[in-house]
Amino acid sequence: KMMTRRIMQKKWRLGLSIALWLVSVHLICAHNEKSPTALSIKEGSDDHSKGEETLLEDEDSEDLEVFRPTDKWQTLKPGQAVPAGSHVRLNLQTGQREVKMGEEEVLKYWSDGNRYTEELKEALKKFKKGMDDPEDSKQIFNQDLKKDMEALDMLVETDVQVMRRLLNQFNNTNSTTEEKITALLDLEYLVHQVDNAQNLVSMGGMQLVINVLNSTDIRLQESAAFVLGSAVSSNPSVQIEAIEGGALQKLLTLLATKRPTSVKKKVLFAVASLLRHFPFAQSHFLKLGGVQVLNELFQTPGTEPLRVRIITVLYDMITEKVNILMAAENSELISQVGMDIIPDSSHQERLRQYAEVSLLPVLVEQGWCSLVPELLVSPEHDCREKALRTLLAMMAQCQTQYKQNPALTASLSELQIQYQELVLTEQDVGEQDGYFAEILALVDSMVVKMRQV
Ligand SMILES: *[C@@H]1O[C@H](CO)[C@@H](O)[C@H](O)[C@H]1NC(C)=O
Ligand SMILES: *[C@@H]1O[C@H](CO)[C@@H](O)[C@H](O)[C@H]1NC(C)=O
Ligand SMILES: *[C@@H]1O[C@H](CO)[C@@H](O)[C@H](O)[C@H]1NC(C)=O
Repeated sequence: KMMTRRIMQKKWRLGLSIALWLVSVHLICAHNEKSPTALSIKEGSDDHSKGEETLLEDEDSEDLEVFRPTDKWQTLKPGQAVPAGSHVRLNLQTGQREVKMGEEEVLKYWSDGNRYTEELKEALKKFKKGMDDPEDSKQIFNQDLKKDMEALDMLVETDVQVMRRLLNQFNNTNSTTEEKITALLDLEYLVHQVDNAQNLVSMGGMQLVINVLNSTDIRLQESAAFVLGSAVSSNPSVQIEAIEGGALQKLLTLLATKRPTSVKKKVLFAVASLLRHFPFAQSHFLKLGGVQVLNELFQTPGTEPLRVRIITVLYDMITEKVNILMAAENSELISQVGMDIIPDSSHQERLRQYAEVSLLPVLVEQGWCSLVPELLVSPEHDCREKALRTLLAMMAQCQTQYKQNPALTASLSELQIQYQELVLTEQDVGEQDGYFAEILALVDSMVVKMRQV
């Protein structure tokens, strides 16, 4: 819902930017009183006799000198308005400004064509009214131009400028909690981009966000965790900053104390993003007692909706290490047979760090061999699948305990029957390797591996 709201906001802003730009252009022209046909917006248009009416009827926005963004860098011509949400850079060789949009923004921009046409018509109508009555026009000019120009400045701002504004709004003691939350959610949208997340760090915004994790307002906690999680996702340099800024400790504190499920969901998201592909953070997580915190959360009544998320965090860590070490073994094999792969020192360092993440023994010690099977009673396929994968990943360490767990044996037999039937229904509709077949394979594999000596 939040996303929709923000997308709508963006669209609205984009529409408004074009409308405002038009109105401003007209008002400037009207004021100069040099160009009574200022309505012909296209620069260098030959047809100065083109009347207002025709233009009003002309819905083809091709005529308008509005920049048409794509996901490729394009040179900006003088006087072109840049839609909000674009990225702007200076080409140092040509000295010209270049603009592009992210793929998502481009889609949004182009899928909203009708809306712009409406906005443009409105802007033109407003202007026409002004032309009919010069006094009125002047009045509009005096009242609105300054505001329009300010709005324009704002609308052509780069992501960095937007972020600076949002951080100021967020950091201002005069801002209401609502305003701060809005600023955080807008920041969250921006920091999905790698550069923006790094800018958040260099602007000092990361520390502000981390600090707010222990604010007294749960909505601020939740939004801050959301921003943090998005900023560190697939962004190693930002992950490092977040760890050094003390984010992990604060996130674990939020998980360990009584908070609404909505807050804990976002916090788990942030923890998962912070740990992913970052063995240093994973070691830190173990040292801070992260497994214990998750253990207690898992067993707290009322947190059932969080359980599959908790298991996912642990499962991801287990498999990540397994995959990395397996890849390392493979590349060693390859180099042994004479292929030219020289592992660099940072790769070695990573392997060393992963070797230090000793998660499985901690999981065994803290009772996860008997906790994970509890998830199998969930009615949700997705949850069962995650549980089965995690059970298999812990097999070497947990096999003895699995064998002594009658509830687990019973669950597996039950699931076997259930998925055998579901696989038949899948095959009835012509699906050979469907989702249920995949789950059945996991169940079968559990059964076989539990029997092995
Ligand atoms: C907060 O508001 C007060 C009074 O309205 C004003 O004097 C002060 O400059 C504002 N502070 C900030 C940081 O904007
Ligand atoms: C936040 O505001 C404080 C003063 O209120 C200021 O010292 C600090 O630099 C600001 N931080 C950012 C990132 O804008
Ligand atoms: C949050 O915790 C830090 C120390 O970790 C403390 O300095 C700060 O005052 C706390 N903020 C709030 C709002 O409690």
